[in-house]
Amino acid sequence: KQLVVAIVGATGAVGSQMKEQLIKRNFPIKHIKFLASARSAGKEIEFNDQKYIIEEATPEAFEGVDVAFFSAGGSVSAKLATEAAKRGAVVIDNTSHFRMHPDVPLVVPEVNREDLTKHNGIIANPNCSTIQMVVALQPISEKFGLSKVVVSTYQAVSGSGISAIEELRAQSAEWEKGKNVEAHILPAKSDKKHYPIARNVIPQIDVFTDNGFTYEEMKMINETKKIMHLPELSVAATCVRVPVVSGHSESVYIEVEQDATKEDIFEVLRNAPGVVLQDDITQQEYPMPIFVEGEDPVYVGRIRQDLDNKKGFHLWVVSDNLLKGAALNSVQIAEAMLADNLL
Ligand code: A2P
Repeated sequence: KQLVVAIVGATGAVGSQMKEQLIKRNFPIKHIKFLASARSAGKEIEFNDQKYIIEEATPEAFEGVDVAFFSAGGSVSAKLATEAAKRGAVVIDNTSHFRMHPDVPLVVPEVNREDLTKHNGIIANPNCSTIQMVVALQPISEKFGLSKVVVSTYQAVSGSGISAIEELRAQSAEWEKGKNVEAHILPAKSDKKHYPIARNVIPQIDVFTDNGFTYEEMKMINETKKIMHLPELSVAATCVRVPVVSGHSESVYIEVEQDATKEDIFEVLRNAPGVVLQDDITQQEYPMPIFVEGEDPVYVGRIRQDLDNKKGFHLWVVSDNLLKGAALNSVQIAEAMLADNLL
């Protein structure tokens, strides 16, 4: 079956990876449309060595579209996703807009593929940091049960879009020349203050909520429970931006329900879908973002049993936030739907 595909936000950091993933994975495309803001409409975009003209994302642009990948920000999804679904498209939305909506499946195929059957035209792609964490935790949870998760993230700037990547580059060059470093985007474009990310670490991603956690932290907390079908799971997150272009890293502390050894956790992760176990401290083998950029899997290393709690384990989880964290997971959702006759 060949499909009519649309990419909304085609010129962005995730949109560009979406194009690459569709080609690389040989997605069955009859026709493809590239949608973005009015600023980009009329400009050329390349796909599979062919040139296409970018169109403005409007409700009418979705006529005849089978599947629409949205990655143009929450406000664009709020305005256009239901318009696309109304016209018969299945929307796979990469923004946070619909994720916690009870009628919208929030899916990581390795974890909760079966939730796709309950869709009403819109499927949400989870937050990038959440995706890589649940891919690593689901197989452990299935085997030993899971009661608690405490995660600290080390998140790359590409999660904040192309302009944040450019800002890191510009600031690094400014430092080299001894110039004053200007900051306009991070930690959150819409917030009052901006701080440099070059030579820095910022303990704020997205804006703050009333409880003192940021929205990014609340996304990890709420989305993890929804995807894993564990509403009672105890989850806490601290989300931090670091001067890395792509590849999110996470220090994850978990508590399991049944007795397990470090070898048990190794064994489960060695056989887990979408996971590569990279853990050999005798060879200084552990995952790092610079080496996972452009790679599909979720890498796990530095596995340790807690010294005080035998049911506590520490993991280091790294993945390319633009791939498994965004574009790849979205395309895998579409592939799963095709295979399950849902598209
Ligand atoms: P454009 O390039 O025309 O601004 P990033 O996450 O890398 O910042 O990319 C954001 C993506 O969302 C870009 O493709 C951008 O297109 C697109 N976008 C931003 N605003 C709109 C809008 N109002 N309608 C459609 N697409 C938009």
